[in-house]
Amino acid sequence: MEEKLLMVKEKLAKYGQEHLLNFYNELSEDKKSELLDEILTIDFKQLEDLYETTKTKPDFTESKIEPIAHVTKAELSNEEIEKYTKIGEEIVKQGKLAVVTMAGGQGTRLGHSGPKGTYDIGLSSHKSIFELLCDNVKEAKEKYGVVIPWYIMTSNENNEDTVKFFEENNYFNYPKSAIKFFKQGTLPMIDTNGKVLMNEDNTIKQAADGHGGVFEAMRKNGIIYDMKEKGIEYIFISGVDNILAKFVDPVFIGMQADLGKMTASKSVVKAYAEEKVGVFCKRDGKPGVIEYSEISEELAKAKDEKGDFLLGDANIVNHQFHISLLEKISTEKLPYHIAFKKASYKDANGNIIEPEAPNAYKFEAFLFDIFSYVPDMLVYRVKREEEFAPVKNAEGVDSPETARNLYNNYHHLS
Ligand code: UTP
Repeated sequence: MEEKLLMVKEKLAKYGQEHLLNFYNELSEDKKSELLDEILTIDFKQLEDLYETTKTKPDFTESKIEPIAHVTKAELSNEEIEKYTKIGEEIVKQGKLAVVTMAGGQGTRLGHSGPKGTYDIGLSSHKSIFELLCDNVKEAKEKYGVVIPWYIMTSNENNEDTVKFFEENNYFNYPKSAIKFFKQGTLPMIDTNGKVLMNEDNTIKQAADGHGGVFEAMRKNGIIYDMKEKGIEYIFISGVDNILAKFVDPVFIGMQADLGKMTASKSVVKAYAEEKVGVFCKRDGKPGVIEYSEISEELAKAKDEKGDFLLGDANIVNHQFHISLLEKISTEKLPYHIAFKKASYKDANGNIIEPEAPNAYKFEAFLFDIFSYVPDMLVYRVKREEEFAPVKNAEGVDSPETARNLYNNYHHLS
């Protein structure tokens, strides 16, 4: 232990993070050891570099942004639909499809105390979001006679509650062995001086590393290996908060396979210029998504010769990958984007600070940055009212109320 302590002290001194041992002597032997181990796993050089990036504003004007081609579902011919359905259904029936739900987010805007997937949006069935999503794989089991593996990404903060919820609900009567949970990675949060924050219990304040952490987390937790063992070829990945997400869409799978694309994403038409959605584009010739926070007003409003938005394909976080791409890119380091958040912490004097304004940097990788690793992708434009009912905010747009109405309309319920 003494040796380990010396090693840690040296590491902390090198990066000016000595405060992390301020309360070390008050800890039990076990907690001391846990803290030292946690500190040893942290890449402080990476944090130092990330801190530097907080000092400059990213300049997106440097990249060349252009529209990306899309295929519109409503414009497919009957022959095309038939052809793709056949190919897609064959892939599904052969057990070559797996589904991943990213449920590691904090869901701060919704303000629900538990994991977002456990939320009851007030349907007459009172199904939770997780149960609504589970209906997808249950229906596919009925229709195609296959048990589709469902992998759920959680975070350190919500893993226990998520697993407990599934246990308590008997996995919604879907085979328990087909549902696997895996935790995403974390990164320490730092203050405006680059100092790592501590929790009240003297552990390091760590935050989930963004939905872009899904690939690394899949590799580290043996999920990609598990999929390969099962003969999986296509992986549908979506967020937890779209209750109209179609996990199993034969036309989408068939089209991706027929066109030989490594990656495919669904989009819906951006509703209005300021809508808070990312849009698909080509960035310096590569596929990508430009976030609403990154886009200039001029580009957000720009229209093409038909009067449609130039960048009109909104990202609804419905992505499908070929496994060979996931194998290849899961070792790549995606860039981190900076979020400035409110985060409570224990200060150097042992006081617990509950800030009223943002005080800490959180670093998140974004899933769509992976698109720059492929020369080209399929963007499949579907109807918003059929496939997009997000639960983001407690009230107003993209709230349980709007999602409930969309769900009821789609299913012809009142
Ligand atoms: P959002 O960007 O909407 O974030 O995530 P959020 O954390 O759920 O909600 P807010 O911003 O705190 O209100 C989009 C999807 O990506 C998942 C979320 O669970 C959601 O399904 N996600 C996000 C992760 O799995 N991990 C993360 O670190 C971030």
